[in-house]
Parts: sequence; structure tokens; C-alpha cells
Amino acid sequence: ELAAADRAALRALWKKLSSNTGVYTTEALERTFAAFPATRTYFPHLDLSPGSAPLKAHGKKVADALTLAMAHLDDLPGALAALRNLHTHTLRVDPTSFQRLGHCLLVTLARHFPGDFSPAMQASLHKFLSRVAEALGSDYD
Ligand code: HEM
Repeated sequence: ELAAADRAALRALWKKLSSNTGVYTTEALERTFAAFPATRTYFPHLDLSPGSAPLKAHGKKVADALTLAMAHLDDLPGALAALRNLHTHTLRVDPTSFQRLGHCLLVTLARHFPGDFSPAMQASLHKFLSRVAEALGSDYD
């Protein structure tokens, strides 16, 4: 589980991102689509070129969902239940895609906040993103 130290580190980092969370999630999406092109196939209807308005709008939605998750570290499955239903039953997103996006968000934040990115910070963020991925994408039948 997320230990008290993980939670404190995560909340501090998220606070630091402040109102820019959407900027970082948008960069993470751009990295995901570039490094793992198969993830693009879920978005045939969106213009995914770097800097496009739909990409930024989608990045903002992902950011807000992660901010919600940060506020419910005790109950990620509960907080993300509606989004799990969307991503599994409606969109049928492959579970590995969540790990890929998580990986790219980690790279993005490490690049923008090098001074904060101790091994412990990386470990806490990895735990958080893994749990979010599990909460969003582990409900297949
Ligand atoms: C839509 C969050 C990962 C594919 C959404 C929405 C949110 C969201 C908040 C908008 C829901 C709404 O409009 O009601 C997240 C979070 C993720 C994640 C927090 C992981 C950290 C992924 C991954 C994929 C994906 C890995 C596929 C590679 C989609 C698609 C839509 C969507 C196709 C619909 C886009 C549209 O038509 O506007 N996601 N998502 N998501 N997500 Fe995710």
C-alpha cells in the first residue's frame, strides 16, 4: 500500500505542479503516442499532433482525473470507478497502455523537476501510477 511517506511525497509534488498539471499530462500523452504508437489507435477521432487543441484538452481531463486520484489515495478504485467502466467496458483499452502512459508521465516529471526526483520520489510516483493503472484497467471480463 501507499505508505504515509509515499502519500506526503506525492501530495507535495502534485502541489508543486499547481495549475500546470495539464501541461505535464499533455507532454506525457505526446511522449506516449510517440514512443508507443499502438496507443494512438484508441484516438482515431482526435488530432494527436504535438500541441494540437484536442490533445491539450484531453491532457487537461487526464490531469483532473489524476488530481482527483491524489485526493483519494485511500480509495483509488472507488474514486476512479466511473473512469474504469469507461476505459474497460466502453473503450476496451489494453491494460499495458496504462503502464505506458504512467511511464511517460514519470519521464516527463523527472525532466521538469529533476531536483525533486530522488529514487524515493520515483518509487512513490511509480507506486501511485501503478495503482491508478490497476484501478482503471483491471476490470476485464
Ligand atoms: C477519456 C483519464 C489512460 C484512452 C478519458 C477521460 C479521462 C481519462 C478523464 C475523459 C472522460 C470523459 O470525458 O468523461 C485517464 C487517466 C488515465 C487514462 C487518468 C491514466 C492515467 C488512458 C489510456 C488510453 C486512454 C492509456 C489509451 C491508450 C482514452 C480514450 C478516451 C479517454 C480513447 C476518450 C477520448 C475522447 O473521445 O475524447 N481518459 N485516461 N486513456 N481515454 Fe483515458
